[in-house]
Amino acid sequence: MSFEAISNQIASIDREINNLERDIQNLDTEINRKSKEAASITEKMSREKDLKKFANLSKDLSRKSDEISSLEKRKTPKVKSLGDKQKKKRDLYVSLNKEEKRERDRSKIEQKEILNIQQQITREVKMQQRVSLHSLDEFVSRNIEAVDVIMEKQYDVFISHASEDKDDFVRPFATLLRNKGLMVWYDEFELMVGDKLRRKIDEGLRTSRYGIVVLSSFFFSKEWPQKELDGLFAIEDSGIDVILPIWHKISKNEVLHYSPTIAGILALNTINFSIEEIVEKIVEKEVYITDTDLLFNVNGKEYVLSEIQPYWSLNFVLREKFGLTFTKNGCDRGQCGHCTVLVDGVPMYSCIVLAKDVAGGKKKIETAESLAPDMYNLTGIAKEFHDNEAFQCGWCTAGFMVTAHALLLDNPKPSMQEVREALSGHVCVCTAIKEVCETVVKCGEKGVS
Ligand code: FES
Ligand code: FES
Repeated sequence: MSFEAISNQIASIDREINNLERDIQNLDTEINRKSKEAASITEKMSREKDLKKFANLSKDLSRKSDEISSLEKRKTPKVKSLGDKQKKKRDLYVSLNKEEKRERDRSKIEQKEILNIQQQITREVKMQQRVSLHSLDEFVSRNIEAVDVIMEKQYDVFISHASEDKDDFVRPFATLLRNKGLMVWYDEFELMVGDKLRRKIDEGLRTSRYGIVVLSSFFFSKEWPQKELDGLFAIEDSGIDVILPIWHKISKNEVLHYSPTIAGILALNTINFSIEEIVEKIVEKEVYITDTDLLFNVNGKEYVLSEIQPYWSLNFVLREKFGLTFTKNGCDRGQCGHCTVLVDGVPMYSCIVLAKDVAGGKKKIETAESLAPDMYNLTGIAKEFHDNEAFQCGWCTAGFMVTAHALLLDNPKPSMQEVREALSGHVCVCTAIKEVCETVVKCGEKGVS
């Protein structure tokens, strides 16, 4: 049965239950009244001395007893029917929860597919940009030397290495990086006869985002590559991490011996990884570390990370990196809704949204903080939740408020049914759900969002 059909059945059974409860209450009132009358007759009988009057009272009492038992008979099937309907309602709620879970699973899969597609598109656009920029750079460097000075090329990586390592590692490595769409400063790609070596290398170092340093015993035996390394360290001194070391046929002790500083930087090792694997890791790092990928637009403000890992969830970043702890975490797997935030106005479980996929500053993220900017002077929907006590422990409240806010913006006067549907992706273990739904309906009636 569909979610809507089950909801309709629940609504109809609710009406039947209400009618039955009302009937039973009326019968109870009537039974009480008759019982009081019977008690009063019994009381009179206990005091009556006249036999004739006593006999009349006795008849009255017997009549009352008949009336009471007839009322009880009418009440019995209604009570049974009420029990049956309540059981049916509970069963329907079980089906509803299952259907909700199925729906959530479906939307989780859809959300992941959308994110994958977005990610794919972003990669392709970046690669195309790089390919076209690279062609432009080649054209400029070969044909309009003067322009080359003005238009500073932006390389993704500069490769510092010893020439002895070219054949077995550096050349195939640089070629593969370039084939992956990265802008690579590698001497065989960049230097031309007549170029001033020092000037070209300085320029390459200055205009590259990262310096890949292929550390080997040849590297440390030569002066020139070490000068390049010094240049990269000078850039790092300004506070930007740029050095990506690769250990090639060299042990940690040897690197320590030559340079304890660079031995301390996380490195890839050609003993452990193939060229293809190293390239994949560098491409991945390049994809997620860019200036704008560290920027987030949250509640209309800019937040910037100093780094981002590809597996960080938006929930983790909001709570642990930005200190926006109104957004809670209940299950960390897209099942409870406590972590809900709005991304471009759409409620999303922040625990299953990757932070890198909403970075860049273009996507507008809205958290519950934006609905309660002053904790001591609540307004809008936050005030309504507070005034109507639509919470118990409060762990689920931020998620509910955010989704309800989105609903009220889209549908300013929702019905109870619409509210229930909109909030169906949320769980409240304290069972404050009834008050929450009633509050949201009230918000609509009062024009609050
Ligand atoms: S914490 Fe995200 S859905 Fe439960
Ligand atoms: S109020 Fe406690 S989980 Fe909802």
